[in-house]
Amino acid sequence: MELQPEIKEQLILKNINQFKAYLRGDIDGFTQYWADNIICHGTAKGESFRNKVSAKEFYSKTLDQVVDVLKIEHKHSEVVDFGHYCILNDDIEFYMQEGDKWILVYDIPARLTTVWSQIEGEWLQTHIHCSFPDINTTEGEQFNYQNVKDENAKLKLAVDQRTAELNQSLKNLMATQVQLIHSEKMASLGELTAGIAHEIQNPLNFVNNFADVNVELIEELETEANKGNLEEVKLLAKDIKENETKITHHGKRADAIVKNMLQHSRKTSGQKEPTDINALADEYLRLAYHGLRAKNIDFNATMKTDFDESIGEIKIIPQDIGRVILNLITNAFYAVNEKSKQGIADYDPTVSVVTKKVNHQVEIRVTDNGNGIPPNILDKIFQPFFTTKPTGQGTGLGLSLSYDFVKAHRGELKVETEEGEGSTFIIELPTV
Ligand SMILES: Nc1ncnc2c1ncn2[C@@H]1O[C@H](COP(=O)(O)OP(=O)(O)O)[C@@H](O)[C@H]1O
Ligand SMILES: [Mg+2]
Repeated sequence: MELQPEIKEQLILKNINQFKAYLRGDIDGFTQYWADNIICHGTAKGESFRNKVSAKEFYSKTLDQVVDVLKIEHKHSEVVDFGHYCILNDDIEFYMQEGDKWILVYDIPARLTTVWSQIEGEWLQTHIHCSFPDINTTEGEQFNYQNVKDENAKLKLAVDQRTAELNQSLKNLMATQVQLIHSEKMASLGELTAGIAHEIQNPLNFVNNFADVNVELIEELETEANKGNLEEVKLLAKDIKENETKITHHGKRADAIVKNMLQHSRKTSGQKEPTDINALADEYLRLAYHGLRAKNIDFNATMKTDFDESIGEIKIIPQDIGRVILNLITNAFYAVNEKSKQGIADYDPTVSVVTKKVNHQVEIRVTDNGNGIPPNILDKIFQPFFTTKPTGQGTGLGLSLSYDFVKAHRGELKVETEEGEGSTFIIELPTV
């Protein structure tokens, strides 16, 4: 039996009204002609359903992508009659809003096929399928191999370009890192300067005093020489000579301090040299202490050392390990200083440096009785730029650089800490 033309018109109209409801966000209106067991294939990923309930759920959840931002135009609709069912073919254009313009989605109409069946005297949709034609193909083509290949080539080029860009930014990043390491070095040099000034002052005082005394002694010597007192002259000459030895001794001490300072600021030689680790630790402990004292008159702390004299010399890059020790000691002094500000009765801020030889390893422990490190930040302290100190007081690079330096020596940098009680940082270095 041929379907009456009015029925065909009605189906086309129902179809249009359905989509109007969809654009209004009226889901019940949109799905009003759907059979319960409708099969529905849309154009989106996962938009494939075998019953009304799940299809409805999908469309309800995606309404924000439709209402007020999507327009639909029905370009051509026809109904083909197969007796107890019919098929509605529809070309529809989806328009998306962009600014004040409506743009045609994919630049091409979609193909909508709806199967209508008569169920208990009512026309219902049992199958819907919507698709877009392959937008890569051109007229007369089934699969556009060349186009796909070209697209791939374009993509590969884009990826190569991006990789090159990423490599460049990696290079820039590395250059910045070198720069930062340099700044951290300069910052720790700043920390050292005050300590160094203090250390140099002492030998300089000796040099000046002995030089003054010698001027007086030489005047005496001249007087005695004029008198012809040879014995006196000899005694005075002996005193002068002794003083000169002292001047040389203290001059050399100042010289060594300046050399060390230069060594610290100098680019690391990268060369391992036999080094007296005890002397290195002792020197940086005193420098860090006097550095802090010079900056902060109220600062006071007990320094303790316990050096294992059996260590002898070990092969390390002295500038690098020196900086590690300095960083740890500076952190330790900072920690005890913070705690002493809390006004705890009987608190004796103490920083100790202990060295020890264990089998084929040397251990350098820097211990403080500060506030310790809270567990929630413990796994972050070795990260670059992690700091809990106020701006200008911490770079957050000390521990991360120290970690790298120790690793470069095939060693380990460890921490033991108890909140409120203090921390111990342990440098372990292989001796062979
Ligand atoms: N001895 C210590 N006691 C308590 N906290 C410490 C100690 N040493 C390091 N920390 C914590 O680790 C953080 C990172 O240290 P570091 O890398 O040296 O950077 P900075 O000293 O510039 O903050 C510090 O800000 C501090 O929170
Ligand atoms: Mg630090």
